[in-house]
Amino acid sequence: MLEVKKLLKSISCGDLRKSHVGLKVTLAGWVHRRRDHGGLIFIDLRDSKGIVQVVFNPETVPEAHRTAGSLRSEWVVLVEGEVRQRPASSENPNIPTGEIEVHATKAEVLNQSKTPPFEIAEDGQVDELLRMQYRYLDLRTASMHDNIVLRHRVVQYIRDFLDARDFIEIETPILIKSTPEGARDFLVPSRLNPGSFYALPQSPQQLKQLLMVSGFERYFQIARCFRDEDLRGDRQYEHTQLDLEMSFVDENDVTTLIEELYTDIVHKVAHNRRTMGPFPRLSYDDVMEKYGTDKPDIRFKMELADLTDVAGQSESQLLRDAVQSGGIAKAFAAPGCASYSRREIDDLIAFVQTRGAKGLLTIALSEEAASLDDMTIDHVRSPLARFLTIEQVREMAGRTGANPGDLILMVAGPIRTTNTALSQLREEMGRRLGLVDPTVLAFAFITDFPLFEWDDETEGWAPAHHLFTSPWQEHWDLLDKDPGSMRARHYDLVCNGHEIGGGSIRAHRAKDLHRIYQVMGFDEESIQEQVGHMLRAFEYGAPPHGGIAMGLDRIAMILGDTANLRDVTVFPKNQAGIDLMLQSPAPIDPAQLDELG
Ligand code: AMO
Repeated sequence: MLEVKKLLKSISCGDLRKSHVGLKVTLAGWVHRRRDHGGLIFIDLRDSKGIVQVVFNPETVPEAHRTAGSLRSEWVVLVEGEVRQRPASSENPNIPTGEIEVHATKAEVLNQSKTPPFEIAEDGQVDELLRMQYRYLDLRTASMHDNIVLRHRVVQYIRDFLDARDFIEIETPILIKSTPEGARDFLVPSRLNPGSFYALPQSPQQLKQLLMVSGFERYFQIARCFRDEDLRGDRQYEHTQLDLEMSFVDENDVTTLIEELYTDIVHKVAHNRRTMGPFPRLSYDDVMEKYGTDKPDIRFKMELADLTDVAGQSESQLLRDAVQSGGIAKAFAAPGCASYSRREIDDLIAFVQTRGAKGLLTIALSEEAASLDDMTIDHVRSPLARFLTIEQVREMAGRTGANPGDLILMVAGPIRTTNTALSQLREEMGRRLGLVDPTVLAFAFITDFPLFEWDDETEGWAPAHHLFTSPWQEHWDLLDKDPGSMRARHYDLVCNGHEIGGGSIRAHRAKDLHRIYQVMGFDEESIQEQVGHMLRAFEYGAPPHGGIAMGLDRIAMILGDTANLRDVTVFPKNQAGIDLMLQSPAPIDPAQLDELG
């Protein structure tokens, strides 16, 4: 038996380089692979820093060689040996330790392993549900491991950056009161107060604002947030925000700070990615028109054009009905796709139908026309061809930027579904046509959001962001007259089609916040019940303030080049909200239930 103190390794497997040649080392890790080469045994030994090749020679170290012969995948071993340069023929340029190997003198098994349910490898073949069930094994793969380390680097960078700028990191409680953030709360029954519940924070929104009242001026927190919403690839029950709030600032102060921070993060942490330069500020109206979404992927153009008027004047009953019932017609041009087959087009139709659109209208402009001016109706292949004049087709082509050889993709119908379906089709076509550069991070701030949205279900106004957002200064007068036309001091940061952060300058005067609640249809009792504590606090000299919350899981997901938040989360839940590893949620003991009343 080796002595306990020797169990400590002298260096990590993945850190070994040519400069260590000649060094005697003690390594500890997992058997990644074993190869018997008639006589010599090679073990790829893996630890948290990487993999190194260990050689066991039966002639010189017969005992260690015997031990090596017994090793199986994922066994835990301690190895002593000497670092040597590999023979030139067996160097491996694909791994950082590829120039060297360790010639073992001793080996000891620290623990055995059952045969894992899947190989710890990067082949991407393993069913995700199985990976989640054995998450501790899945996290051993280099890509998962790297994602988690990347996440750590991002958070570490944020802490240093904000500390250097006088921000104070403050923890706020997790057992709080329901916060009107827009999602459903997770509730925790109170044992000492039967029948009453805590809510887990959907975000620390109110608490950080109260810290501004307390005079901290610059707060941040790496905050866990809990929202009982339907899960998606980029949405989990629990997510982490870089939450921050500042006093005596305007929109520009907050967005400039975040622009600097996120530019630095990309440069310092994600070496293989680049930003597109200064983050543009795009207005909500503008992006809704051009991209049909408030979180556009601006790595490529292929912008949408409004064709409502042309559609309304066409002979197509379908188009005219869509427009006459208050809808719109929008389209974009897919370059070089005029020759799409019936099957390819059916595939795109099915794509928009699963996104809520009734259908997709295609107008293929044959590349046989020398130019738009030379184009005749014979050059147009479309189910609409009979109902459109060549002038109308030219107008549609002109607005969408289509040329002969291109395919115009059009959706007509209610505003919301048309925008949703087309924006997703645009992103899909961007991917299919290779217009998306995966190394680029296209950040943009979206500004000038409406303050309120009409909620068809409640038949009332609902906040577009949250209730604490201030309208534009000059729009306070509209609050009683025309809430729908009010604009908010709200900004989102988007990147490559994801919303990765959002915040606002707040309504910091008690009377203003009170008025906003009244317009939203709350009576005095429910106002006091919901935000009485905020109104009271604001009466004691609340400074003007504003802030933002950045989705850390989402930026880690983008930097880690995955479309799935679960890939950057250690122990995630599946689509049904179940943690397959812990088997949670689970029924609880009746005695525990009784205790909670
Ligand atoms: P908001 O609700 O926009 O703002 O959230 C801020 C950011 O958090 C991320 N995010 C999520 N990430 C993963 N899963 C989820 N379920 C999820 N929900 C949100 C997004 C989002 O942009 N209190 C305000 C901020 C403020 O006004 O300061 C808030 O929470 O990236």
